Amino acid sequence: MNGPSRDPAESPASDPASPGHRPIRSFVKRAGRLTPSQARALEQLWPRFGITPPAAPLDLDALFCRAARRTLEIGFGNGDNLAELAARHPERDYLGVEVHDPGVGHLLLRMEREGLENIRIAHHDAVEVVDRWLPAASIDEALIFFPDPWHKKRHHKRRLVQPAFLDRLARVMAPGARLHLATDWAPYAEQMLEVCEASPHFENTVAGGGYAPRPETRPQTKFERRGLKLGHEVFDLLYQRV
Ligand SMILES: C[S@@+](CC[C@H](N)C(=O)[O-])C[C@H]1O[C@@H](n2cnc3c(N)ncnc32)[C@H](O)[C@@H]1O
Repeated sequence: MNGPSRDPAESPASDPASPGHRPIRSFVKRAGRLTPSQARALEQLWPRFGITPPAAPLDLDALFCRAARRTLEIGFGNGDNLAELAARHPERDYLGVEVHDPGVGHLLLRMEREGLENIRIAHHDAVEVVDRWLPAASIDEALIFFPDPWHKKRHHKRRLVQPAFLDRLARVMAPGARLHLATDWAPYAEQMLEVCEASPHFENTVAGGGYAPRPETRPQTKFERRGLKLGHEVFDLLYQRV
């Protein structure tokens, strides 16, 4: 999911040194092909489960109509992991962030089918959601599963898991909150480990450090299945907000 061949990362407009530069994003917004049922779900269910970009940080109790422990999933893809967890844990609330239209439509359809009420969706860049939409210490668990690996060296700057992003994420995570990352791209796993180990905000929950054994509770995602089919090893990282 590294985007189309003409990559805006290569445009001079995205160079921070050039005037009028755009921020470097971890995604390329692809023209999404919505199925008719996804389009219907977006039209009918979005007002109930979607979050309109707020002018001030969100009141999450008001958004979910209750106070509960909260999980944030960044880049939920088609939302199957989020839906699975939300169904297993009706006592928790789930905030999903994704920029890909069909993924949002897919999740809304599943929520409707399964009567899931404990999910809200931000259809927006996660960096801005974390920076501007979420109050400090409002999240008890953050999940980033199989983020775009941006294989080429010149694109590594677009990877989501970087020191600056971990600092921003740390602000919205409550003390003791869990950070769970997974990837099937070994070089990105190494980067994740390096960045997390160097962060003053997170500590590895694995005795002796390093990668965590795959938690059986983590549902398998579409991109994990794809990686496994390609013969890739999967790496889990489990940290805690200090
Ligand atoms: C490789 S896919 C993985 C999807 C899913 N987690 C899975 O495992 O199947 C990465 C997803 O992250 C989304 N994404 C990347 N950067 C994002 C950002 N800054 N904000 C929101 N979503 C983002 C992409 O649109 C894409 O759907």
